[in-house]
Amino acid sequence: MFKKKILITGGAGFIGSHVIRHFVKKYSNYEIYNLDILTYAGNLENLKDIEDYPNYNLLLEDITNEDRIQDLFTEYEFDGVIHLAAESHVDRSIKNPLAFAKTNILGTLNLLNSFKNRWSDNWKDKRFYHISTDEVYGTLGETGLFTEETPYSPNSPYSASKASSDHFVRSYGETYGMPFVISNCSNNYGPNHFPEKLIPLFINNIIENKDLPVYGDGNYTRDWLYVKDHARAIDKIFHEGENMKTYNIGGFNEWKNIDLVKLLCRLMDNKLGRSKGESEKLITFVKDRPGHDLRYAIDATKIKEELGWEPSVSFEEGLSLTIDWYLENEEWLINVTSGEYKNYYQDFYSNR
Ligand code: NAD
Ligand code: TYD
Repeated sequence: MFKKKILITGGAGFIGSHVIRHFVKKYSNYEIYNLDILTYAGNLENLKDIEDYPNYNLLLEDITNEDRIQDLFTEYEFDGVIHLAAESHVDRSIKNPLAFAKTNILGTLNLLNSFKNRWSDNWKDKRFYHISTDEVYGTLGETGLFTEETPYSPNSPYSASKASSDHFVRSYGETYGMPFVISNCSNNYGPNHFPEKLIPLFINNIIENKDLPVYGDGNYTRDWLYVKDHARAIDKIFHEGENMKTYNIGGFNEWKNIDLVKLLCRLMDNKLGRSKGESEKLITFVKDRPGHDLRYAIDATKIKEELGWEPSVSFEEGLSLTIDWYLENEEWLINVTSGEYKNYYQDFYSNR
């Protein structure tokens, strides 16, 4: 039987675990390799339901390890790479930019190089797919949308490291003829999201009756996409996207942080049987994030017109599904919020 060997990096993380599940279940004729070093954000519990599938394989490796990554390409001859492994949290990048340069820039470069070393004599049917973020475009004012032509203007160490990795991917296309695609997606939300990002952090804090720390005046705007819709878009782009091209992915779903938090509070009051307005009392305005981008919003027309993809889950529906998942997976939440998380939370939020 025809078999493709696909390397998916960062598959134990938030988005990666949804992408792994999507591919493992849908493509039984592919051999899927999840390469992940399991940082604080990587969690094999995210993949419990598919870990016994015959086409799923786990490689506990670090993308920055030159010898090991090259050896793996020689041993397994991956036809395609879908690269998600990264340090992904803006606040952590402000504290520790070097870790972001190492993983996001050098790690990506190391994968590119190993892929090139293995296939540059014949690129036929090979593809390197790099997963990136809309944050590389910097910030918007009150109007306008990011398109694929918007110039890069990253403002945080996280977005600068992702922008740099995008440029390296493109350069391998231009210099070595490597077939690549890149997608830049807006903010994701959904099950398995590590509770240091806005939505899962606030769900967890509402459950625990803890303050909801809104940065600045809360008038920052993000475009939110349900994670399973992102996984569907990744499938489309991996299989049907044009080589050497970029696709923007977004939810056509802009929310000011403060409005989103109030909606979340209302939904949670309902689900937890609390009286109306109870969770909103937890909202606390705290010191702003330095270099905080005012607004992100994606024009996802190209992927819609060229590949026929558009979001399928509305925000209210997606948020409701997400809250239900956290309420039903209390043990997951307890496990990930013990240990390192406690130190991070204490250190980060205690002085704001
Ligand atoms: P995440 O932080 O939840 O997961 C990252 C995964 O990468 C973890 O499993 C971690 O163990 C793994 N990893 C980190 N360093 C590694 C290394 N050196 N070697 C091997 N594995 C390593 O991240 P996420 O939110 O799922 O994001 C995944 C990708 O999507 C990232 O590239 C991110 O930039 C991009 N992205 C995320 C969002 C979002 O809203 N979360 C939006 C657009 C794009
Ligand atoms: P986040 O989930 O960290 O994603 P990103 O910075 O990649 O967009 O943050 C989303 C928005 O929520 C962003 O404007 C920062 C804000 N925010 C808070 O107000 N309080 C918080 O505790 C966190 C984590 C984020």
